[in-house]
Amino acid sequence: MSYLEHNKPITLHEIKRMHSTGEKIATLTGYDASFAALLDRCGIDLILIGDSLGNVLQGHGTTLPVTMEQMIYHTECVCRGGRRCFVAADMPWASYQENREQALRNASRLMAAGAQMVKLEGGAIMAETVNFMVERGIPVWAHIGLTPQSVHALGGYRVQGKDEAAARRMKDDALALQQAGASMMLIEMIPAALGAEITQSLKIPTIGIGAGPACSGQILVLHDMLGIYPGKTARFVRNFMAGASSIDDAVKVYVTAVKDGSFPATEHCY
Ligand code: KIV
Repeated sequence: MSYLEHNKPITLHEIKRMHSTGEKIATLTGYDASFAALLDRCGIDLILIGDSLGNVLQGHGTTLPVTMEQMIYHTECVCRGGRRCFVAADMPWASYQENREQALRNASRLMAAGAQMVKLEGGAIMAETVNFMVERGIPVWAHIGLTPQSVHALGGYRVQGKDEAAARRMKDDALALQQAGASMMLIEMIPAALGAEITQSLKIPTIGIGAGPACSGQILVLHDMLGIYPGKTARFVRNFMAGASSIDDAVKVYVTAVKDGSFPATEHCY
């Protein structure tokens, strides 16, 4: 049976199995019930309710204005539409950085809304918080590299980990987060060679966005891969609607390209 035919709900256990057998994990963001149903039937493994909804749904220039209430609303919408995909929700800006109790409280609200995992941004500094949540039953997906909630501190949406010291720090961050119990690592906008090094150094799956083809899986923002975001898109984006006959077709081409390793190609890498 091919991955497009099976319709058993995907669990964290299944994601780990895919990682252990070398099957690439095809991930997209999603924000509503209709698209969740579409991603589900087209073979996506994991849907992230990303705080990128601040950009692509709300028209903001950053993800910073997104609130917990909005993330809960979109998580509920996605969970009503999806049946098979594993579902993760982003913890928005200022919902987890204060202390570990704040993080646990807000992560619990996203889990109650239907998320099966939460994602938060930051390196080793977040390890204690991650451990606190994991020990209390919340699967955590850590996000390193370009962390959009820190866009102002980073001086813009730039490639991260370019020099040796920054690359070393990022590798240490990844190990600290894994040690704290993170179940997966999202790596954004870093050199492909560093993406490969981090992936090889970890026992947990890495999901890349502009982090090269060696990652255990790939993610794109839905509106970017459908070519409908009116703003500037990054080098790592491929418009899968180009040449596709329908949105279903574009998503199926994306799933196949992630699974067979043809996406990302050299032109999408740093
Ligand atoms: O919010 C989002 O869409 C993200 C991307 C990096 C996938 O976190």
